[in-house]
Amino acid sequence: MEKKKQVLSCIQPTGDLHFGNYFGAVKNWVDLQEKYDCVYGVVDYHAMTMPYDPKKLRTNTWELIFNLLAVGIKEENLFIQSLIPEHSELCWIFNCFTSYGMLTRMTQFKDKSIQNKESGADNFISAGLLDYPVLQAADILIYRADYVPVGKDQEQHLELSRNIAQRFNHQVGKEFFVLPETLYTEVPKVMSPAAPNKKMSKSLGEKHYINVFGEEARIRKQIKSAVTDTGETKEGEMSAGIVNLFTLLKACEKTEAHAALMLDYESGNLKYVDLKQAVADALVEKTTIFRAKKAELQSNKKEIKNKIKHASYEIRKQAQATLKEVKDLTGLMNVRF
Ligand code: TRP
Repeated sequence: MEKKKQVLSCIQPTGDLHFGNYFGAVKNWVDLQEKYDCVYGVVDYHAMTMPYDPKKLRTNTWELIFNLLAVGIKEENLFIQSLIPEHSELCWIFNCFTSYGMLTRMTQFKDKSIQNKESGADNFISAGLLDYPVLQAADILIYRADYVPVGKDQEQHLELSRNIAQRFNHQVGKEFFVLPETLYTEVPKVMSPAAPNKKMSKSLGEKHYINVFGEEARIRKQIKSAVTDTGETKEGEMSAGIVNLFTLLKACEKTEAHAALMLDYESGNLKYVDLKQAVADALVEKTTIFRAKKAELQSNKKEIKNKIKHASYEIRKQAQATLKEVKDLTGLMNVRF
């Protein structure tokens, strides 16, 4: 039997999971598990690169683990980055194969530096923020990932990972690292219900995102008050708010309702309340399932946590094997205890 291709992706533990994350990324991760060998990481080391609260990091990490499990990620495919110290060790080695100039030119570094300056009172930009993409390259290359499902905003980081791999391979005179490819899947672009010209995001504030585990009443309220007219729509064009509601309906796989309401729209008979009702029902149907699953997992907290530690332990073996070879190739020491 042919070996399945290796897929890897990671997500930072920064609070709630919203429908933008879910439909835009995590649902795709769930589906990819059918076809590929997948590993997904919760990257807590990455979460330290922006101002953060040490008291909350562990809680957020576990919270995200439970959220990912509740929406369908398999526990054996999940790891926590800080349980696999080889990532940060490989990151150091990669630092010595990375161009400093390239790091300073990363768009995300530039954007986040500005964000940091604006939000942080003390103007502090850590070397960790600059080094962020090198750690990301280590996350990817340590598992010899063929495909990395990420959004367009991460393309530059993927390019850097390939660059590091090539430089490494060249220097050690061996095609050691696989050059990872970005795996693009057509995913719906979910916008903020309160400002449908902007992407759904936590950083915009509470009314701009719909929590995947949100309370029914709150979700209904958010959809009810979703902005339908942004005042910028051209004659004969569907407004961004309506597009977004249709997007959500389709993402929830309500194909029939979607088709019927679209016909209403085309014949000029669409009542916004009907569309909103359908979207709210569809989202609530999803959250009801996810909430039940999460509650079930949380009633077994200790056992689930142990399973994830065990999964990380198993996944770590791959990381250790890669690092051992890297140390041999680069002239570093390997000790057998
Ligand atoms: N930088 C990614 C993001 O912000 C998160 C990430 C860290 C990642 N390491 C990774 C994504 C490795 C893919 C592969 O979304």
